[in-house]
Amino acid sequence: MMSIDEAIKGRRSIRTYKKTEVKEDFIRDIVEAATFAPSAKNGQQWRFTVLTGESKDKFTDMYRSELDKLTFDVGSSYGSCTMMERAPVVIVVWNTNKLGWTTEVHSVSAAIQNLLLKAHALGLGTCWIGDVLYTSEAIVDYFKKPWKLLAAITLGWSDANPKPKPRLSVNDVTEFLN
Ligand SMILES: Cc1cc2nc3c(=O)[nH]c(=O)nc-3n(C[C@H](O)[C@H](O)[C@H](O)COP(=O)(O)O)c2cc1C
Repeated sequence: MMSIDEAIKGRRSIRTYKKTEVKEDFIRDIVEAATFAPSAKNGQQWRFTVLTGESKDKFTDMYRSELDKLTFDVGSSYGSCTMMERAPVVIVVWNTNKLGWTTEVHSVSAAIQNLLLKAHALGLGTCWIGDVLYTSEAIVDYFKKPWKLLAAITLGWSDANPKPKPRLSVNDVTEFLN
């Protein structure tokens, strides 16, 4: 089994995937890992919509056409859209947001990190996609959910070997007070 350090330090955002299908059992394992995250008041505010095949194609078509309507700079969104079009699986991540607390966002983000690490431990690649938030409202309407959109995640067998991104050191980000 992969050590915690291998999982944490070996994970990369993977943006190119093989066409190979990801079996539902793997997806279930990965989502199960997400459900073991800590959550504010154990509210388990995470919900997931797993898209493959036609449901994924329809979603990415809708996302692309919503991006086309925007008149401001959407950053890397078209690149993220292409990535979702090409990935075998896209998982839309929701926040039930019952109380409107910021901590509910934290819960769902913790779940996503678990999900990314479990996928990596199973040899699968993922990328966390915040760019879907540019079209949040349209996505919520499309799925007719009473929740807030948190992110999307692409998932698949990696066809890339990206170098690690530079990291700030412990000294850069920490002060020790006594
Ligand atoms: C909140 C959040 C939003 C992100 N949104 C996107 C995105 O929309 N598109 C994308 O290609 N990558 C996205 N990423 C991935 C980051 O670019 C990536 O995690 C970062 O560059 C560090 O690289 P690493 O994941 O390989 O360590 C996002 C990551 C996080 C945590």
